[in-house]
Amino acid sequence: MDKTFIMLKPDAVRRKLAGEIIGRIEAKNLSITNMEMGVLPRPRAEEHYGEHSDKPFFGELVDFITSGPVLRMQVEGPKAVEVMRTLMGATDPAASAPGTIRGDLGIEITENLIHGSDSSLSAERELSLFFGND
Ligand code: RTP
Ligand code: MG
Repeated sequence: MDKTFIMLKPDAVRRKLAGEIIGRIEAKNLSITNMEMGVLPRPRAEEHYGEHSDKPFFGELVDFITSGPVLRMQVEGPKAVEVMRTLMGATDPAASAPGTIRGDLGIEITENLIHGSDSSLSAERELSLFFGND
């Protein structure tokens, strides 16, 4: 079993799409094994997205991700990291394929509904950051 870190972003929570998105994760037969809702403290958001700290969109990204409650999850299953990235769709919802979470539910790159770890190493780091395990 592989584990990944998933976060429903503030737009998903504001738009009351958490149930829709969790339904897709469960329908895929992945397991949600930890879950927590709350607003991210800014330093934690900056640490989470540290790899983007020198990008022009970093400030906007941190403003957005701390703009309201997020739903953080540990998700487990075979190839959980890759399977979740496929379910999520490409980063820019305007270009994500129909049938994916971002492709079906979003249209703007900042408000792209969901974060998922991009590798096993990222998953370990992010699960440790948010849930204190790996
Ligand atoms: P995430 O980390 O949130 O799961 O998204 P991702 O892997 O698909 O994309 P990543 O390259 O890690 O970018 C992180 C988030 O930054 C925002 N972004 N804005 N304005 C821009 O050009 C731009 N590029 C990226 C997106 O909201 C993306 O999810
Ligand atoms: Mg990323």
